[in-house]
Amino acid sequence: METPGKEEISVEDEAVDKTIFKDCSNITFYRRQKQQLSKNNTYRALLDTVTTGEDSTKFQIINEVTKIPLLAEVYGVERNIFRLKINEKTPLKPRYEVPDVINKLNTVRLISCSGDTGSLILAGGERDLKCHIIANPFKIELISEEEVVISINSLSQLYFEHLQIPHKHRATTEKEERVSAGASQLKKRIKKGKESQEDLGLWEEKFGNFVDIKANGPTSIGLDFSLHGFEHLYGIPQHAESHRLKNTKDGDAYRLYNLDIYGYQIYSKTGIYGSVPYLLAHKLGRTIGIFWLNASETLVEVNTEPAVEYTFTQMGPTAAKQKVRPRTDVCWMSESGIIDVFLLTGPTPSDVFKQYSYLTGTQAMPPLFSLGYHQCRWNYEDEQDVKAVDAGFDEHDIPYDVMWLDIEHTEGKRYFIWDKKRFPNPKRMQELLRNKKRKLVVISDPHIKVDPDYSVYAKAKEQGFFVKNPEGGDFEGICWPGLSSYLDFTNPKVREWYSGLFAFSAYQESTDILFIWNDMNEPSVFKGPELTMQKNAIHHGGWEHRELHNTYGFYQQMATAEGLTQRSEGKERPFVLSRSFFSGSQKYGAVWTGDNMAEWSYLKISLPMLLTLSITGISFCGADVGGFIGNPEAELLVRWYQAGAYQPFFRGHATMNTKRREPWLLGEEHTRFIREAIRERYTLLPYLYSLFYCAHVASEPVMRPLWVEFPDELEAFDVEDEYMLGNALLVHPVTEPRTTMIDVFLPGPNETWYDSKTFAHWKGGCTVKIPVALETIPVFQRGGSVVPVKTTAGKSTGWMANSPFGLRVALSTKGSAMGELYLDDGHSFQYLHQKQFLHRKFSFCSSVLTNRCADEKGHYPSKCVVEQILVLGFRKKPTSVITHSSDGKDQPVAFTYCARTCALSLERLSLDVDADWEVHVR
Ligand code: GLC
Repeated sequence: METPGKEEISVEDEAVDKTIFKDCSNITFYRRQKQQLSKNNTYRALLDTVTTGEDSTKFQIINEVTKIPLLAEVYGVERNIFRLKINEKTPLKPRYEVPDVINKLNTVRLISCSGDTGSLILAGGERDLKCHIIANPFKIELISEEEVVISINSLSQLYFEHLQIPHKHRATTEKEERVSAGASQLKKRIKKGKESQEDLGLWEEKFGNFVDIKANGPTSIGLDFSLHGFEHLYGIPQHAESHRLKNTKDGDAYRLYNLDIYGYQIYSKTGIYGSVPYLLAHKLGRTIGIFWLNASETLVEVNTEPAVEYTFTQMGPTAAKQKVRPRTDVCWMSESGIIDVFLLTGPTPSDVFKQYSYLTGTQAMPPLFSLGYHQCRWNYEDEQDVKAVDAGFDEHDIPYDVMWLDIEHTEGKRYFIWDKKRFPNPKRMQELLRNKKRKLVVISDPHIKVDPDYSVYAKAKEQGFFVKNPEGGDFEGICWPGLSSYLDFTNPKVREWYSGLFAFSAYQESTDILFIWNDMNEPSVFKGPELTMQKNAIHHGGWEHRELHNTYGFYQQMATAEGLTQRSEGKERPFVLSRSFFSGSQKYGAVWTGDNMAEWSYLKISLPMLLTLSITGISFCGADVGGFIGNPEAELLVRWYQAGAYQPFFRGHATMNTKRREPWLLGEEHTRFIREAIRERYTLLPYLYSLFYCAHVASEPVMRPLWVEFPDELEAFDVEDEYMLGNALLVHPVTEPRTTMIDVFLPGPNETWYDSKTFAHWKGGCTVKIPVALETIPVFQRGGSVVPVKTTAGKSTGWMANSPFGLRVALSTKGSAMGELYLDDGHSFQYLHQKQFLHRKFSFCSSVLTNRCADEKGHYPSKCVVEQILVLGFRKKPTSVITHSSDGKDQPVAFTYCARTCALSLERLSLDVDADWEVHVR
C-alpha cells in the first residue's frame, strides 16, 4: 500500500487549511465560557467550611445562581510555591487529575491568620508570602511584602461545568447546519450573545465531517489571574509566535492542543506539536510563574493594561502625579479535568526556574554525542547511501556525530523491523558508524500497522495495549503505514512492554550505538479530526482521550527513554528526540520544532520558539536546520547552520522530494562556511556540555532570553533576535538575506562585550552596528566570563575525548572573570552514582588565573590539558607570564600580546585540566 502523504491531507505549502484546524470560534467550550461569563457568574467562598489539614486548607465555594458547591484546596509547597485545586465537591464520578507529571512534593503547612469575617489569610513558606482568601465575591490574592502580586478570580471568570447525568442526544439536521456555519457568523453570534444551547456542543459537537460525542457532556473549567505590575509574559509553548506573549483578542486565544501541522503558519497562536501549560511573568524586581496542570485542550487569553499616569491639576499649584501600575490578566480555559494550578512566586528568574523544575524535573543530562551535529533526511535510502554520506563528512573535513534514519528504513513502516532490501545488514552499518565513533538514530512512531503478522501489532493486540474506540474495539486510524492502531502509553503496563522492545534481544540487529526518535506522537492520525485522535477514544482506566491528549507524546518519550536505559541495565544515558511534549518532557530527552519551512522567516521565528521552550524547562531543543519543507537557497542554509551551531539541539533535516543538501553540495565557498560553523560548534562543546550540566542540576536554561540574564534592564525584555547561550555568550544569528550590517543590542551598562572573532570590545547598554560577511556568526563574549573550549574540532565528539582545552577569558571592567567546566565520561550514569565527574572553576583576578575544584564530591581522572589561554581586555603588555602548579613548580611561558585588541594569548601550554594551578601575568 502507498504511504498516504501528509501533503495530500494538508494544503498548500504556506497556508494552513482552516477547514482542517479549528480556530477559537470552532471550539465549543470556549464559546460556552464566553457566553456564560457574560452573564452573572458570581461565586462565594463559604468560610465557615474551612478545614486545615497537614497538607492543605480546604473550603467550599458556591455559584450564587446554581448553588452547586465546589471544593477548593490551597497547598503551600516547599520553595515558595502555592497550589490551588478546585474540583466539584461531589462529582458524579472522578474527574481527571493529571498523573505522572509532578514530582513528589513536600508541602508546607499554612497557618491561618485572622482575616476579617469575610476573609481568611494563610501564611507560610520562608518569605513574607500570604494567601488572602476573600469570601464574597470569591477571590484569592497572593501577597508578598504587603503587595498584591497575583489575584485570582478578580474578574469573576471562574468557570466550572459539573458532570451531569447523560440525557438523550439530540441530533437534528437543523442543528448540524448551525454548528458548521462559517466562523465569522459564529463570532458575530457569540458577540450578540444569541447562540442557542444546541450550538454549544454540550453532548456532541461537529467539526467538518467529524462528530465528537461526549459521554460526559460538558466538563470545561476556567479561571482568571491578574498579574499586578506585570506587562511582560512569556511561555506556554508551542506556538510559532514571538517570545513575549501578545495580547489576545476575542477569538484569538493561545491554544494548547498538540497537533501535527505540516508547514505550520508563523506568527499564529494555534497549537502545534507540544504543550507546556506554564507561563512566566517578569517585571523589574520580580519574576513569577503560573503552571496550569491540565492535559486537555486549553486556551489562554492574555490582556495587558499598560501603566497609566494621571495628573491631578486641581490639587494645587504643583500638579500631583499618580501612576497606576500596569496589569496583565490571564484567563486559562480547559475542556475538562479539574483546576489545578501552581503559583511560582520567584522572585528572580532563576528562582522560578528552580520552582518549576522542583515540580516537573530538570533537563536530563544528555550523552555528549547528542550535542554534536546530527545529519538527518527523509530518507537516507539504503546502507550504501548512509556509507556515502558518512564518508562525505570525512572527505570534506566536517565533524558530525549522528546519522539518522527516517520511516523508510523499516519494512512497510513496521517500526523495529528493518527493510532488508535497503538495509540488508544493519549491524554491519552500525559497526561502520561505531568505528568512526559515531551513532545512529532511527525513528519509532506510536502508530502500529494493523497487520496480524507483525509481531509488535499482534502482541499489543493480544494484550489489549491499544487505545480503544468508544465501542470497545481497538481504535484504528491512518498514518504512515496505512491503517494503524495506537499504543496506549498512558498505561504503565504498555510503557513497560514498549520499553522492553528496545532491549538488544528484542530489537533485532540493534546495537548500543542506536538511539531513538519518536515522531507523530501528538498523536497524528491522518484522517482524524484536526489530523489527530478523536477525543472520545478510550484510554487505560476508561479515560477519554480528551482528558489527556496533550500528554500522549510525553508518555511515549518517557517509555522510550526508559527502554534505552534498561537495555544497558541502567548504565547508559538514553537519547530520545520527540516531536510532541508536555511539562516534564525535559526529563526524557530533546524536542524539536517540527515541520518548518526552508524560508528566512522560519529561521527567524526559530529563535523565539526555542527561547520559549528553554524557559519552560525544555533546554534540549532545536529546529530543523535548513528548514524541513522546500529547498533553501545556499545563503539561507549557511545562515541556518550558523544559527544551529549555537543552539542546543543541532540537526539538519529535509523532507522527501527536496534536493539533497548535505553540506558539501553547495559549492566550495558555502561548504566552507558550513564547515566552519559546525567546527565552531565542536570547539564550543565543553562549554555547552557544562551548560547542560547546569540545566540538569541547577535548572538554568541553556539558551536564555536576554531578560533572564538582565532582569533589571527594560530594554532587554522584548528582545528575541538575539539570546544568551549560558551567561557568557551573546548570539545574534543573521536571519535576513544579503545582510551586510546588523544592529546588535549589547545589554548592561556595566558590562563589557567582546566580539569573539575580532576581539573588538564595547561597553554594554547600547546597540552597535556590526558589519557581517557570509562567514560571520555574530557572537559576543561577556566581560567577566571564562569559556572553556576545545582547541580543535575532531571528526566527532568521540575523537575529541582527550583533545586539549582552551580557555577564553574575557575580562570585566574590573579586570576579572569566572567560568566553569564540567566533564565526565559523556555517556554513562557514573557521574550520578559514582560521582565520576570533574567540575572545575576558573577565575581570573588580580592578573592571576586559577583552576580550582568546584565540587569536591566529583572525581574523574582526565588526560586532557589546557593548551591555550586567551585573555581579552588585558590592558597592558605583560612583562612575564608564569604558571604555578600545585606541587610548587613555577614555569615561565611564552606569550603574545596584541596592543590594538588588548588580547593576550598563551599557546602550547600543558596544564592538567583536573589539577589546581595558577597562571600569573605580570
Ligand atoms: C514528520 C516529521 C518529519 C519526518 C516525517 C517522516 O513530518 O515531522 O521530521 O521526517 O514525519 O517521518
